[in-house]
Amino acid sequence: MSDESVISLRGVRAELGSRPVLRGIDLTVRRGQVVALLGANGSGKSTAVRTIIGQVPVTAGEIELFGTPRRRFRDWARVGYVPQRTTAAGGVPATVTEVVSSGRLSRARFGVLRKADHEAVRRALGLVGMADRAKDSVNALSGGQHQRVLIARALAAEPELLIMDEPMAGVDLASQEVLAETLRGQVAAGTTVLLVLHELGPLEPLIDRAVVLRDGCVLHDGPPPEAVGQHALPGHDHVHPHAPAGAEPIRTGLLS
Ligand SMILES: Nc1ncnc2c1ncn2[C@@H]1O[C@H](COP(=O)(O)OP(=O)(O)OP(=O)(O)O)[C@@H](O)[C@H]1O
Ligand SMILES: [Mg+2]
Repeated sequence: MSDESVISLRGVRAELGSRPVLRGIDLTVRRGQVVALLGANGSGKSTAVRTIIGQVPVTAGEIELFGTPRRRFRDWARVGYVPQRTTAAGGVPATVTEVVSSGRLSRARFGVLRKADHEAVRRALGLVGMADRAKDSVNALSGGQHQRVLIARALAAEPELLIMDEPMAGVDLASQEVLAETLRGQVAAGTTVLLVLHELGPLEPLIDRAVVLRDGCVLHDGPPPEAVGQHALPGHDHVHPHAPAGAEPIRTGLLS
C-alpha cells in the first residue's frame, strides 16, 4: 500500500450559525485505506465530511485532496460522495436510472453520456442490486432502496475516493449485506474510503482505522474501538430497551 495521502485535514476549524462545530480536526486518509468516522449525534461528523468536499467553509486549517489544496482541487470525478440521507423528499421526481446517471456526468465529455457511461450506470445499479428497478421513479422506493440508488450514483463515476455519510442508516440487514459486499469489491479494486458510521456492523471487517469525534475534536484515531462493532454508540439515537423513560444514556467514556 502506498502512503500517498488522499485526504488530509490539518487543524481544521469550522463554524455553523456562528457556533464552532469543528475545533481543530487532524485527519489523514491514505490511498487504499478504509477509515470510519464515528461519534455521537452532533459531534461534527457530517460537517467534517462536508468541509472536505467544499460544502462547508473552514475558518482555519488546511485541507488537501490527492495532495492538492482543496481550493485548487478541480478533479471531482475522482471523488464519489453519498450524503447523509434526510427524510425530506424534495426535488423533481426522477427515475432510478436518471439519478444514477447524474453521478456519471462528471466523467462524461460535454455532459453527454455515451455507451461506456450508460454501461457504467448499469454496472453500478447491478452492484447494489437495483438493476430491476432502473425505470422506476425514486419516489416509489423504500428508504433502503433509495439509499442503494444514491450509492450507485456515487459508484457510477468509478471514483478513486468514496466518501459516504451513514450509508447504512435506515437500510435493512439484507441491503446492508449487499452494500458491504459492494464496498468489499470497491476496496479490493483499490478505492479509498471514508465512511461516517454510527456502528461498524457488517462493515467491521473492512475498516482499517476509526476516527472518533467528540464535540468537534478528534478523541481517538486508531484501531476501531471494540464495543462499536456490537452496539450503537452511546449518545446516539438509540434508546436502550431496558432503560427507564427519561434516563440519561450510559456514558462509557471513549465514545460518549
Ligand atoms: N446548517 C447548520 N447551521 C447551524 N448549525 C448546524 C448546521 N448543521 C449542523 N449544525 C450543528 O453542528 C453540529 C454538528 O453537526 P453534524 O451534522 O456535523 O453532526 P454529526 O456528527 O454528523 O451528527 P449526526 O450523527 O446526528 O449525523 C451540531 O451541533 C449541529 O446542530
Ligand atoms: Mg451526520
